[in-house]
Amino acid sequence: MVAHDLIKLAKLPDASILVDLGAGHGAFLVAGLLNGCAKVVGVDAHSDLTSGLRPLLPESTCELISGDCRELLIPTGNLYIAAWTTWTPQTRAQIRQQLQFVPKGAKLWVWTHEMEEPEWALRRVHRVQMPGYMIQVFLYEKV
Ligand SMILES: C[S@@+](CC[C@H](N)C(=O)[O-])C[C@H]1O[C@@H](n2cnc3c(N)ncnc32)[C@H](O)[C@@H]1O
Repeated sequence: MVAHDLIKLAKLPDASILVDLGAGHGAFLVAGLLNGCAKVVGVDAHSDLTSGLRPLLPESTCELISGDCRELLIPTGNLYIAAWTTWTPQTRAQIRQQLQFVPKGAKLWVWTHEMEEPEWALRRVHRVQMPGYMIQVFLYEKV
């Protein structure tokens, strides 16, 4: 539900490509496919997660990558990116470097930490109720 709500709030252009950096159990990937994304790309370091998802999602529109999202070549096009930022500061810095190459207009939900990058404009702050606690998530757009 959370992934679905966040994708709706991001107001993605038609046929966006959704990239989930740390795709976990694939909630954003499924929500992306149900909300008009042309393609979803999920990367996760735990290969059991990505291999478990593979038989469940359509091969033609879903690319699953077992590996380190810091090494992902982020696709071009209308992009939407979901990123968890419970990563170490060093990992966050590496992800920010990759995001330099993302096209203008790309949307990015970042969890739990604000980004201070001049080329990413903060568009929305949203509270998400998790079991027993509340977090804030931040929607940015590349400008
Ligand atoms: C909290 S889960 C996110 C789940 C997913 N985005 C969702 O909303 O359902 C974070 C995921 O990031 C993955 N992860 C952490 N560091 C990573 C890295 N450097 N490269 C790829 N995946 C990573 C973990 O294996 C975990 O599945």
